[in-house]
Amino acid sequence: MTVFTLILALMIVGLAEGGRHLDVEVMSSRRNLRVTLNSVQVLDARIGTLLNDGTQAMGLHLLTLNQHSGAVIMKKTFNTTEFAAGLALYPVLTSIAAGRIAIFAVLAEASLNLARVTRQLLAGFGVHSASVLRVRNYLACVLTVGGVTHGDAAVLDADTISLNTFASPVIFHAVIPLSDPDSCSWMKDNNKRKKFCSQYDGYGDFCDCENPLPLDFPKQKLANSVIENIPVLIIAGNRPTELYRSIRSLLEQPGGAPEKILVTVEGDYPEVFQLLNLLQIRYQSFRPALDYSTLLDLNDTRVFYAARISRHYHDALQLAFRLHPNAPAVILLEEDLIASPDFLSFFNQTAFLLASDPSLYCISAWNDLGALHTSRDTGLLMRVETMVGNGWMLTRRIFQEVEGTWPMNVGEGDWDMWLRIDENAAQRECVIPAVSRVFHYGLTGAHVRGPMTIAHFAGHLTTSQPNIWLKDTHKLVQTEYEKSIYELLESPNIVFHNTSLSPCNKNYLPKNFTETLVIFFEMTQGLDKAGWALLAACLGLWHLDTRGHHRGLFRFNYYNTTVLAIGYPFSDYSYLKPPKICMPKKIETTTELQLLDTLVVENRRRHRVADLEEFLPSLMLDVRIPSFAYS
Ligand SMILES: *[C@@H]1O[C@H](CO)[C@@H](O)[C@H](O)[C@H]1NC(C)=O
Ligand SMILES: *[C@@H]1O[C@H](CO)[C@@H](O)[C@H](O)[C@H]1NC(C)=O
Ligand SMILES: *[C@@H]1O[C@H](CO)[C@@H](O)[C@H](O)[C@H]1NC(C)=O
Ligand SMILES: *[C@@H]1O[C@H](CO)[C@@H](O)[C@H](O)[C@H]1NC(C)=O
Ligand SMILES: *[C@@H]1O[C@H](CO)[C@@H](O)[C@H](O)[C@H]1NC(C)=O
Ligand SMILES: *[C@@H]1O[C@H](CO)[C@@H](O)[C@H](O)[C@H]1NC(C)=O
Repeated sequence: MTVFTLILALMIVGLAEGGRHLDVEVMSSRRNLRVTLNSVQVLDARIGTLLNDGTQAMGLHLLTLNQHSGAVIMKKTFNTTEFAAGLALYPVLTSIAAGRIAIFAVLAEASLNLARVTRQLLAGFGVHSASVLRVRNYLACVLTVGGVTHGDAAVLDADTISLNTFASPVIFHAVIPLSDPDSCSWMKDNNKRKKFCSQYDGYGDFCDCENPLPLDFPKQKLANSVIENIPVLIIAGNRPTELYRSIRSLLEQPGGAPEKILVTVEGDYPEVFQLLNLLQIRYQSFRPALDYSTLLDLNDTRVFYAARISRHYHDALQLAFRLHPNAPAVILLEEDLIASPDFLSFFNQTAFLLASDPSLYCISAWNDLGALHTSRDTGLLMRVETMVGNGWMLTRRIFQEVEGTWPMNVGEGDWDMWLRIDENAAQRECVIPAVSRVFHYGLTGAHVRGPMTIAHFAGHLTTSQPNIWLKDTHKLVQTEYEKSIYELLESPNIVFHNTSLSPCNKNYLPKNFTETLVIFFEMTQGLDKAGWALLAACLGLWHLDTRGHHRGLFRFNYYNTTVLAIGYPFSDYSYLKPPKICMPKKIETTTELQLLDTLVVENRRRHRVADLEEFLPSLMLDVRIPSFAYS
């Protein structure tokens, strides 16, 4: 027997004389989720179906409606049964314009990995039943964003796990008021924004009723800029709300004028084009260069997308340099990257290095080793051997050098991996900051899923100030840099770390050591990750390969302790190793390697940084149950 409680089912009918209403019916259940508005079915999701936007049907569904017409303007699904999928809720909920009508419901299961922070977020949004939802329980909730919850109904059945059952369906019916069209400033005059905000959601205060963001962002000059003629190229697909955040992060900072930005869009997406027209940003759409349907015998979609993305980068760079004939370089961003407030100032201060030092081939805004607990020094720059994407500057000269052999076809691999091969890198390096200057919002990209996001991307914060003075930029030139590294390594403030503890032991490294710690670990050649993988995974650093080093030297902080990890005997600095010193063990088997993959998912919780976590509350996932039966 199933015991259940119906916690709340409110109905609000009537209201103002002559006011217009919307009749809302929602069914949330094991196999079917239906939403009907004024007798028209707008969603019929069944378990196992693929929705129009490519998402799968199972999990927590969200519809948002135009508050004046009742038209559906956004549909999202979050499979919060899956680990870390709740991370995607945060940017979406915070991007819905106040005044919209939002409908939430569950299909099949949504609670298994619904973390406490995500439940709190939903409850704060008005979905109160989310805070008590259990496994295979159902809910339906209709609310006005930033206003009242019109109804929140749930069937809460505590026995579904022990009895291996599903809670009874929730069937919800309410009549809710629609707002008067005059209640929104952008509805009154027939401006460009009216069409956009009536049709689409996910732009927050851009579509605010009372005080929509001005369309012309105040232009702030970048003092004594040397990158005036260097454009920012944004590579985009069909993620307009993310693209909006990315563009806005540029427009709101010194130097970020619309005419500086060029967006290339792969495909024809009306919402993206309308957005760019509204923001007065120049763009070019490319027809997808490769057609999947002609490659039916290709089993690996990843290989296909790698080729398509590579081609897009090539064509986009070519276009950017053609449209800006005087630009010596281009700054690249992707639509799911948000620039820090000093992003342009960062490139302005470092551009001279790329122009003057032939041993460099990029300046990048991203530190692969820059997690919350491993990077604090906002003024510090480093040189690394691996090409780093995620917000970077490439010169015309180097593009011309690699343009002819750029990977364009299926099977030729990812452009970024390709740029890293010896032939292209030609022993050149990139300059990166210790604290990244971009924030990676995308939970899912071509290669990125939830656990990967939580382990390696979401925990990288950026700087928050517009004016950060970078230290000793001239010391990043090759000869100077080498000199400073030797000075650092041979200074008396160096302590060689000598412990037999495993790097995963919580006492392995002190968090507040005043001297610089040098760790030696085994590394036979540049691509040998057997020693690095364990050290990095245990300390919460990128461990999947040996990116981010300079001649075998990895520099990072562990909280307040400065660490220099030297790959022995590969590194040029191996000569410093005392004859007898403990080195962490190497990963010998694939089983050990797989164990590391499960470990890194826990890293965000193993390396807490209370003061910085405040800025990313959604990161703190507290649930993780590997697998479960659903149907
Ligand atoms: C949702 O997540 C669960 C757990 O990872 C997975 O088994 C299931 O296939 C996912 N469902 C969809 C529709 O993606
Ligand atoms: C795709 O998979 C089928 C069956 O597994 C195999 O016969 C075929 O060779 C594969 N095609 C390619 C291009 O790998
Ligand atoms: C831009 O770079 C130039 C040259 O390095 C420097 O003089 C100027 O102060 C920089 N401005 C900002 C805001 O970074
Ligand atoms: C790091 O240093 C700061 C400033 O001295 C201090 O407030 C903080 O507690 C230290 N953190 C750790 C983990 O020791
Ligand atoms: C870390 O060291 C700094 C400077 O020595 C000191 O001020 C601070 O209190 C220490 N913090 C902790 C948590 O030990
Ligand atoms: C490191 O520790 C080991 C054992 O604890 C000891 O034998 C060795 O001499 C130490 N090495 C150095 C350089 O202190």
